[in-house]
Amino acid sequence: MKSFKDRVAVITGGASGIGRAMAERFAAAGMKIELADVEPGALNRAAREMRAAGHRVLAVRTDVSKAASVAALARKAMAAFGGVHLLCNNAGVYPPDRYSPVWEAPLEDWQWAFDVNLYGIVHGIRAFMPLMLASGAEGHVVNTASLAGIISGSGSAVYGASKHAVVRLSEAMYASLREQRAKIDVSVLCPGMVQTGIYRSQRNRPGKLRGVGVPAKYRSLGEIPMQNAMAPAEVAEQVFNAVRRRQFYVITTTSFDDTIRDRMESILARRNPVFPNIRSLSRRDSKAV
Ligand SMILES: NC(=O)c1ccc[n+]([C@@H]2O[C@H](COP(=O)([O-])OP(=O)(O)OC[C@H]3O[C@@H](n4cnc5c(N)ncnc54)[C@H](O)[C@@H]3O)[C@@H](O)[C@H]2O)c1
Repeated sequence: MKSFKDRVAVITGGASGIGRAMAERFAAAGMKIELADVEPGALNRAAREMRAAGHRVLAVRTDVSKAASVAALARKAMAAFGGVHLLCNNAGVYPPDRYSPVWEAPLEDWQWAFDVNLYGIVHGIRAFMPLMLASGAEGHVVNTASLAGIISGSGSAVYGASKHAVVRLSEAMYASLREQRAKIDVSVLCPGMVQTGIYRSQRNRPGKLRGVGVPAKYRSLGEIPMQNAMAPAEVAEQVFNAVRRRQFYVITTTSFDDTIRDRMESILARRNPVFPNIRSLSRRDSKAV
């Protein structure tokens, strides 16, 4: 996308972290913003603050795990703004299972992570792509995956599995859009660690696990150190540049390149993989780009 002024951006998970930062970056470029989030308090606060800064913001409480909720988001965007040019499928959750073996993850977490991280994007593209393509205007879709969608290993396996699926879905979108010579581009955003509320995702964990963090037996392994994490605004700047340059893979840091390379080389050599430990991974500096 080359022009942003008076165009329309829809951003899910827009009340916090990376979504909020993307909303501010695209609003600063002159876009009108439809901000969507499941947390009404944080959503209304974000919208109020952005309006006070002079931006045009429509806040719509949305649960991306529900197809009907995302369809309503699309209808409201069309009613308010008459079109959509940029869709950031960004809402995501991180089940707090990071040190648990994958077979110990509660079934509720599999359901929750895939409902939000994967089906949230499925609902987004099913509701918005037909509208964006029919308009004939240039546009862009950003799907937020994670470095956890490219690398692998024992930790954060439920989250990682859902994010691997997001990378695959996004590559399929890229291929189809190029085959159709569409005016819509797509990027898959794969950040390393970012200073956001993601590691407190249990605030939105459904059912009896709401608010419950890391299982007691793994708590002594400690919290993920955030001092090496990137600021959300830096991620948003990279996304803005990727949309302008039509760049597909947005991998925000080079700090995990050796791990990506090792995985790919093991696959090509038909060699058994050697994965880094989740604790050593989370101590890496995510800032270097
Ligand atoms: N922070 C990181 O280190 C990191 C790294 C890689 C990828 N990501 C991804 O970035 C995206 C944004 O997360 P963040 O880090 O800004 O975290 P965040 O928790 O600060 O923001 C996520 C937002 O998504 C919202 N949300 C959760 N469930 C929702 C639902 N069902 N429907 C609508 N909104 C919902 C939350 O209320 C929150 O406002 C996620 O997809 C996350 O997986 C984050």
